[in-house]
Amino acid sequence: MIFVDACFGKPTPYTPVWMMRQAGRYLPEYMKVRAQAGDFLSLCKNPAKACEVTLQPVDILGVDAAILFSDILVVPLEMGMKLQFLKGEGPVFSEPIKNQQDLDKLSVEKAVEGLEYVYETIKLIRGKLAADKALIGFCGAPWTLATYMIEGQGTKTYALVKKLIYSNPQFMHALLKKVTEVLKLYMERQIQSGANVVMIFDSWASALEESAYFEFSWSYMKEISSYLKAKFPDVPVILFPKGISGYLDKIDGDFDVFGVDWSTPMELAKEKLGDKYILQGNMEPTRLYNKDAIDEGIEHIVNVMKNERHIFNLGHGILPDIPVEHAKYFIKQVQKLTKK
Ligand code: CP3
Repeated sequence: MIFVDACFGKPTPYTPVWMMRQAGRYLPEYMKVRAQAGDFLSLCKNPAKACEVTLQPVDILGVDAAILFSDILVVPLEMGMKLQFLKGEGPVFSEPIKNQQDLDKLSVEKAVEGLEYVYETIKLIRGKLAADKALIGFCGAPWTLATYMIEGQGTKTYALVKKLIYSNPQFMHALLKKVTEVLKLYMERQIQSGANVVMIFDSWASALEESAYFEFSWSYMKEISSYLKAKFPDVPVILFPKGISGYLDKIDGDFDVFGVDWSTPMELAKEKLGDKYILQGNMEPTRLYNKDAIDEGIEHIVNVMKNERHIFNLGHGILPDIPVEHAKYFIKQVQKLTKK
């Protein structure tokens, strides 16, 4: 698989490319299947339909890897929390975690077993996906998941979760530890079911100052990654901490690919991390609104990375109103311009 080879720095005929959120609302084919499934969570829990939408961007755009269709928030859901996706508001946990009693009610074992529909989806996808295309499994970082579990929903200030960090760090660590236990077993089961690569999304990384970031987030991401690398050395691990360009000097750990978000200059990521890790990223996702902007974005990244130790991607998820034709153009251009 060219994607897996690239994750290990082996030679590839061109730089492989995929897009975060590549299975999603910008595709009319996705909207059709989602309408059949009912709502978003029902789609996540329906292996046949989740498999179908996972494969759509591979067929329509020709990306080099499929990413499992699911969501990072199915983990707290199956640990026992009540989750809804409300129109216009995004995900909401109606009973967020407030204290040790709430935390005690959540179960590691129940979550790992309750996520069976994800393992089932992976098995179906791996059975249908072309042998030369990689399947990426994923989870959210403990910090990003814990933020949702404490705040109940997306937040601008992170007031509740940060209050906890500075006034009751022991409790915050207890929560992070429990989520980390689930994620280790969850990712292990994803790999055993057929995922060829795994990625951890730390979408709220930029909310924390440097010392807090390494204590409350990066240490747990590293713990999951070390656990997986010890058991599955042939399965690449990608870590994606969003918005921490100021902290790159302190990034370390046993993983293979560092996901660079769009706000981090690729030059800087290459200088600080390019020798240690393969870099993935990082075209500004809104460049997809305009073809000239796409060309300019690709050209810049190619000039910096020079087709070496690199996987092409956007620097965050594709937006729902991007024309499909532009997404296709991006993928084709990368595959053409990086040919060796
Ligand atoms: O194609 C893929 O990338 C695979 C599937 C995937 C989804 N969510 C599907 C989804 C992945 C990898 C995720 C990860 C995810 N989910 C993250 C981390 C990545 C990031 O974007 O930072 C986060 C923070 C979430 C939580 C989440 N899920 C939010 C905030 C939302 C609503 C936001 C929005 O765009 O409306 C979701 C819903 C969601 N997850 C959708 C999809 C396709 C849209 C749901 C729909 O069909 O209406």
